[in-house]
Amino acid sequence: MQGHLFLIGFMGAGKTAVSNALSAMTGIPVLDTDEQIRMQEGMEISDIFAQKGEGYFRNLETQLLASLQGQELKIISCGGGMPLRPQNAALMQAAGNVIWLTVSPETVFERLQNDHSRPLLANRRDPAAIAELMEARREAYEAACSCQISTEGKMPEDIAAEIAAVYC
Ligand code: S3P
Repeated sequence: MQGHLFLIGFMGAGKTAVSNALSAMTGIPVLDTDEQIRMQEGMEISDIFAQKGEGYFRNLETQLLASLQGQELKIISCGGGMPLRPQNAALMQAAGNVIWLTVSPETVFERLQNDHSRPLLANRRDPAAIAELMEARREAYEAACSCQISTEGKMPEDIAAEIAAVYC
C-alpha cells in the first residue's frame, strides 16, 4: 500500500465501521481523528464546538493531519468535515490515498436521528436538511478524493473488501 488510507465522507457514512473492518482484514491500525482529538483535548467533540468553536476544532484537524506525514502506515477514519479545507485535502493527498464513502441523506437520517454527539446535525433533523449540507460539501469531497465508493445497502466488510482489493 502506498501511504496512509484516508476514509472521508459525510457523518453516518460508516467510516468508523469500514475502517475497523478493513483493519481486521489487513492488520493495518486505525486512527480515528475524532477519537484522537477527543483524547488530546480531554473533551467531547460537541463540547469543543460549544466552548471553543468550530474554527478551533478545524485547526486541530489540520494539525493532526500534518502530524501524520512520515508515520507508520494507518487507516485514517476522518471526521466528516475534514476535506472542507483545501489545505487538509492537500495534506491527505500528499500522505496517501483518499477514499470517499458516499451515503444517502435518508440513510444518514435513519442512522443518526437519535444521535446527539454531532453538533452540525443538531439543527438538521430531517433528510432535506441533511441533503442540503451534503450537497454544500459535495465539491470538497470530490476534490479531495481519489475514488468514491457507495455504501448504500452494503455491509462494512463488503466495502472494506472493495477497498482492500484496490489499495492493499
Ligand atoms: C463533523 C463530523 C464529525 C465530527 C464533528 C464535525 C462534520 O465526525 O468530526 O462533529 O463536520 O461533518 P463524523 O463524520 O465521524 O461523524
